[in-house]
Amino acid sequence: IIFKELTKQFEQSLLDSLEKNDKKGEFEILRKNLITQSSKEEFGDYQCNVCLSLSKIFKKNPRDISNDFINLLKKNKSIAKLCKSLEIAGPGFINIKLKDEVLINEIISNIQCNRAGIPLIRKDLDRGLSNKVIVDFSSPNIAKEMHVGHLRSTIIGDSISRIFELRGYEVLRLNHVGDWGTQFGMLITQLKDLYSNDLEEIGKIKISDLVEFYKESKKRFDNESEFQKRSREEVVKLQSGDIKSIKAWKLLCDQSRQEFDEIYKNLKIKIEERGESFYNPFLKSVIDDLNLKKILVEDQGAKCVFLDGMTNKEGKPLPLIIQKKDGGFNYATTDLAAIRYRFNKPPNGDDASRIIYVTDHGQANHFAGVFQVAKKAKWIPENCQVDHVPFGLVQGIDGKKLKTREGETIRLKDLLNEAVRRAKEDLLKRLEDEDRYENEEFIANTSRIIGFGAVKYADLSQNRITNYQFSFDKMLSLNGNTAPYLLYTLVRILGIKRKNDFVYDSKDFQYVNYENKSEWKLIRKLLKFDEVIISIEKDLMPNRLCNYLFELCQTFNRFYDQVPILKEEKNIKISRLNLCDLTAKTLKLSLELLGIETLERM
Ligand code: ARG
Repeated sequence: IIFKELTKQFEQSLLDSLEKNDKKGEFEILRKNLITQSSKEEFGDYQCNVCLSLSKIFKKNPRDISNDFINLLKKNKSIAKLCKSLEIAGPGFINIKLKDEVLINEIISNIQCNRAGIPLIRKDLDRGLSNKVIVDFSSPNIAKEMHVGHLRSTIIGDSISRIFELRGYEVLRLNHVGDWGTQFGMLITQLKDLYSNDLEEIGKIKISDLVEFYKESKKRFDNESEFQKRSREEVVKLQSGDIKSIKAWKLLCDQSRQEFDEIYKNLKIKIEERGESFYNPFLKSVIDDLNLKKILVEDQGAKCVFLDGMTNKEGKPLPLIIQKKDGGFNYATTDLAAIRYRFNKPPNGDDASRIIYVTDHGQANHFAGVFQVAKKAKWIPENCQVDHVPFGLVQGIDGKKLKTREGETIRLKDLLNEAVRRAKEDLLKRLEDEDRYENEEFIANTSRIIGFGAVKYADLSQNRITNYQFSFDKMLSLNGNTAPYLLYTLVRILGIKRKNDFVYDSKDFQYVNYENKSEWKLIRKLLKFDEVIISIEKDLMPNRLCNYLFELCQTFNRFYDQVPILKEEKNIKISRLNLCDLTAKTLKLSLELLGIETLERM
């Protein structure tokens, strides 16, 4: 909140100064990142680097500009109220220090707020936009394996959804399952060959291993021309709505869904299935509308749009194919229909104002193309936004694709079970070392939370754009930037609270004159929480929350090691216990945002 107010006031002063010099046109560029966190704590709470750019515009020495700008800022009453000092540094930076009482008032208000200071967006957005955000994530493909890439999408997408929910957006979590396409021709043909071609019987089939089934039918499709021919005919039948084909298709989808749902249930992921097939009725009008707007061109029989600024390896313009030569639609057609639907108003639409897609980096070109065409066709309303949230590959510790020791791809179920098994092993060893007894239920629950939490956290704490190396040892370690470390810090705080027999209220928090450095560090760190959340809302990088939490825990642990709490006199004790409470609240809320359950003891 302080940050927002300060930014507003700095913007005002910047505008004044530009106006005075007849350079108002530069404002929009200069206001970007006008104030940032200080690069070093000693420098102050924030810094402002705008004077370096201003010096180029005004053609004056940057330090002189800084001086003038500081004088202007000091005349602003709100700034004077917030800031202890504004100081020029280096070639012309401005270091900003906040007043102690400003920080303390803010910390008191966060202590008393059950959202730990995270503001809600205003429900009535003044631009007349809905506040509905669609997060398109997970999205595995029917009868194919749900692989680690889908796991990453699931974990990142869930966390992004939670952050938007906390901020007060209406979030529609969509599973854009690959449940349509030519592969169903071969799958259904295989189903009829292996099991039954009888309408009644089809509904009762139970395929034990869908992934194996997929592989087998693919093998036949590639090797048997007669099978291939029947498969192609089957696609036509399915598309024309043949009852038997539809029934077989539904069966395949149902059985895949059961497998996906087990993973979602384990990881406590809420998501609504709306697969590619949902958009079938809207595909034709995608083509019609693009034709009408004269965007579509024909190239070697296919209908496509040539993309601006995108070329293939030979430097030729890249087309986005929207209708194939044989008249069939593809992945891109479906995504175009989906964008249109999602921004449209009901009944044939979701009325979203932002769509976020979480997939691996390999689909970046696909989405760039789809977004470009949707913009050309004016299907993305003004002020509405689409974002692709790409992520890198999950690799083994050898830097290669994640595989079992036998060289097979690892199944998600096995991977998650393994994390829980190892967490349990660690826990049992710890219990033995500490000579502690815990019952079965405690052990099972604790290892489940640590195991799943570790996998999720390992994924989220990486800068998602880079590849990351999956290591059970690292993610389960109690030291370092891991879920166990955060969970343990929370348990430690709750332990302090248990030792305290003194009743107090958050309203009893009184202004005390803090002298201790690590106490101030903790206060400042706690006050950064809202900025982190708001920056993720903008840039969709959940790893920032992880980094923040790691630093918060380190700051807290240092505070706890250096600053007495329970031994202190009443006022100080209350204020320090309240800082513990706010740290615990921030941690709990954040772990919830990362989809990680917390523990009272571990
Ligand atoms: N099913 C796709 C895959 O497994 C991901 C779909 C992502 N969402 C979308 N709207 N295209 O790669």
